[in-house]
Amino acid sequence: MVKEKENLLEKIVSLCKRRGFVFPGSEIYGGLANSWDLGHLGNELFNNIASLWWKKFVQERDDIVGLRGPVIMNPKVWEASGHLQSFTDPLVECKICHERFRQDKDEELKEHAESHKGKAEWTEPKNFNLLFKTYIGPVEDQQHVAYLRGELAQTMFTDFKAILETTRKRLPFGIAQIGKAFRNEITTGNFIFRTKEFTIAELEYFVKPGTEDEHYKNWDKFILKFLIDDLKLAKNKIRSHVHSKEKLAHYSKGTVDLEYEFPFGWGELTGLASRTDFDLKNHEKLSGQNIKYKDSETGEEFLPYVVEPTCGLERLMLAVLINSYEEVEPRSGDEEAVHEKEVVLRLPKALAPIKVAVLPLSRKEELTKPAYEIYRDLQKHFMCQYDETASIGKRYRRQDEIGTPYCVTYDFDSLNDGEVTVRDRDTMKQERVVIGELAEYLLKKL
Ligand code: GAP
Repeated sequence: MVKEKENLLEKIVSLCKRRGFVFPGSEIYGGLANSWDLGHLGNELFNNIASLWWKKFVQERDDIVGLRGPVIMNPKVWEASGHLQSFTDPLVECKICHERFRQDKDEELKEHAESHKGKAEWTEPKNFNLLFKTYIGPVEDQQHVAYLRGELAQTMFTDFKAILETTRKRLPFGIAQIGKAFRNEITTGNFIFRTKEFTIAELEYFVKPGTEDEHYKNWDKFILKFLIDDLKLAKNKIRSHVHSKEKLAHYSKGTVDLEYEFPFGWGELTGLASRTDFDLKNHEKLSGQNIKYKDSETGEEFLPYVVEPTCGLERLMLAVLINSYEEVEPRSGDEEAVHEKEVVLRLPKALAPIKVAVLPLSRKEELTKPAYEIYRDLQKHFMCQYDETASIGKRYRRQDEIGTPYCVTYDFDSLNDGEVTVRDRDTMKQERVVIGELAEYLLKKL
């Protein structure tokens, strides 16, 4: 069983490289540990996941607005947020599960070792701050130090007042952002699961103090629904993990993660934290600015509490790839591969990098020319591929492997009846459709 799971990750890594989803980063220089590049299909899949998140968490709600902040902010931000202070203890990391512990917490280390049947191995202790440090300008001294953001939340706090004034939103309301975050992780690994540079989709939801628990519960359900209904992740592969008091982040009074059962074990996909007024309070204090919310009915001024749903998009992408991967008996008609299992990537249609492939049955110009015209027309609506190389079976197989929901074949009959065959990736049904109605037909299905 364990071997099977290891193989699954290997197969996904290999498919991703072979078909252009994910490549090892800087490979021509021997790579850079755990840095990955998204290829032409990976980039599409990633963007589709990001768009779907945005649609569900921002577009379809009237209580959320978007924001795009910079990677480098005034270093005082990280002082106020507690990030500069919070990770400066000597840390050791469990080599088995990569959980980090304070080296001076003997009891915790012992307890953790027991969870691995007393066999935990530890990395050398490091005085570690996860924030990546850089310098602004040519002088590399303490005065010019800056940090790459370790989370996105802080722009939502520093811009809270400006957003309140420009949007005239009333509580409860949220600010959402998608962007890169950077963490100098001690260990990384498991393909794109843990990297030093990754993309977070994050939302700070501002609420009246005292109502945060109710909003926390609502968001917990909302995130789970997104994973199951929209990303179509298998329900039985998702579980909740409530953080114990001792393991809470410095800003949180309660955190629950949704974890996915990856081939290498359960891993955090999304997090939900109850951040109280910790951040706004500290920014108000350090900046000396009044960033309080004024209740228009009572005139009362106060700092809202914050509930924060967050997730890593590369992790969602890995979960979606694993969840969609299926090996089936030969079905494409690829004659060279009749004895091999074939891969079908059953991606949700909304996420598929290529929605439609247009395939002329033969390379004769009388078929390729009109087929290419169909492709050019469909391109106005969806990401499409045109492929006239190799046998039709091989081309179906290629499209199944990258999760294309529909293949359109232009054959010799098409010349006479003005119809094409549309093949459905999942049902394998083939339907004849009038060329003039093709775009509309596909738009309805996708
Ligand atoms: N603002 C809260 C925050 O940043 P987090 O749980 O530390 O929370 C957010 O990070 C999400 O980012 C996590 O739920 C996880 O999916 C993802 N993530 C965290 N560290 C990561 C890493 N090193 N590589 C890839 N994704 C990561």
